[in-house]
Amino acid sequence: MRAYRSIEWLDEPKALRLLDQTKIPGEIAYITYDDVAAIAGAIVDMVVRGAPAIGVTAAYGLAIAAWHSSAETLAEMKGHVAKADALLRTSRPTAVNLFWALDQMQQRVAQAKPTTIDAYREALVQAAHALAREDVEINKAIGQAALAIVPAEATFIHHCNTGGIATVDYGTALGIIRIAHEAGRKVHVYVDETRPRLQGSRLTSWELQQLGISHQIIVDGASGFVMKNKKVDMCVVGCDRVALNGDVANKIGTYNLALVAKAHDVPFYVAAPLSTIDRAMASGDLIEIEERHGDEITKIDGTSVAPAGAEVLNPAFDVTPGHLVTGIITEKGIIYPPYTENLSKLFNTLAQEE
Ligand code: MRU
Repeated sequence: MRAYRSIEWLDEPKALRLLDQTKIPGEIAYITYDDVAAIAGAIVDMVVRGAPAIGVTAAYGLAIAAWHSSAETLAEMKGHVAKADALLRTSRPTAVNLFWALDQMQQRVAQAKPTTIDAYREALVQAAHALAREDVEINKAIGQAALAIVPAEATFIHHCNTGGIATVDYGTALGIIRIAHEAGRKVHVYVDETRPRLQGSRLTSWELQQLGISHQIIVDGASGFVMKNKKVDMCVVGCDRVALNGDVANKIGTYNLALVAKAHDVPFYVAAPLSTIDRAMASGDLIEIEERHGDEITKIDGTSVAPAGAEVLNPAFDVTPGHLVTGIITEKGIIYPPYTENLSKLFNTLAQEE
């Protein structure tokens, strides 16, 4: 059992405990929630972050709404949960996992056909538990699929944080690195610090230290230098939403990294659970990109690093065009271009299996 858990359901009293990612690495602190509005706030404030972790948190948010609802009839409680669902959907726009997980909750609870308040509450908790369990299995499968392309001595560049705390456990892109390390590959990682929130230096380096994986933090602008002057086998990044043409929304700076990788002939892989592929989105041009407060750029730990009143543009994500993506590593294997054709084939095959 690892030392920390990003998301944990507590039974007595019913509550959701989140690892406070805004405090890492200085402090390992947890916050316990029994109110769905506060859970939505935790997603907005990035107490919990990373596409899969946001999705599972939202799922548990519905269970919290039900358990702490004063409703006396099932219909009234369903109304409270619907309001909670609507609130959670407004928290962060870009990661499709949030919306996917809330849709899954509706479908799974409907399948359980609860007829009492207690059964409904329990169905919500069990559906959220299932999503949490599946997330771990999916991440392990992504890591296993990637072993085919990871050499015996592998040097990676990784952007943002995609590890055990961006998910329920293991991680997606960082899970690939972890599984390669556990499989005996000699791994080294250049960790993009990932301005402005420093998910790379604060979170990814912290996770890699605990896993005993060799790494060095680099500033985001160093990737060109590193790819030109050092051996880099591949870039691996996570994603917040993948369009059907292979365009990938991920943490701001991912697009720059992909361009630099192209210029240096370094393969650029995206780790993507199928839940992050938006089957309703034909092109990345349609993805809504969250813009966050300028203070994230002009202040570091509360200290101004820009002149007072300076204007800021702070998109939290960018979209890397599919033609820069070497492969998309999913729990069902690695998908290569042409993405429109190959993703549609994959989804057709999966639909036939269902
Ligand atoms: O703003 P964040 O920290 O939630 O952004 C996270 C990322 O962009 C991750 O790369 C992505 O969610 C994949 S996490 C497995």
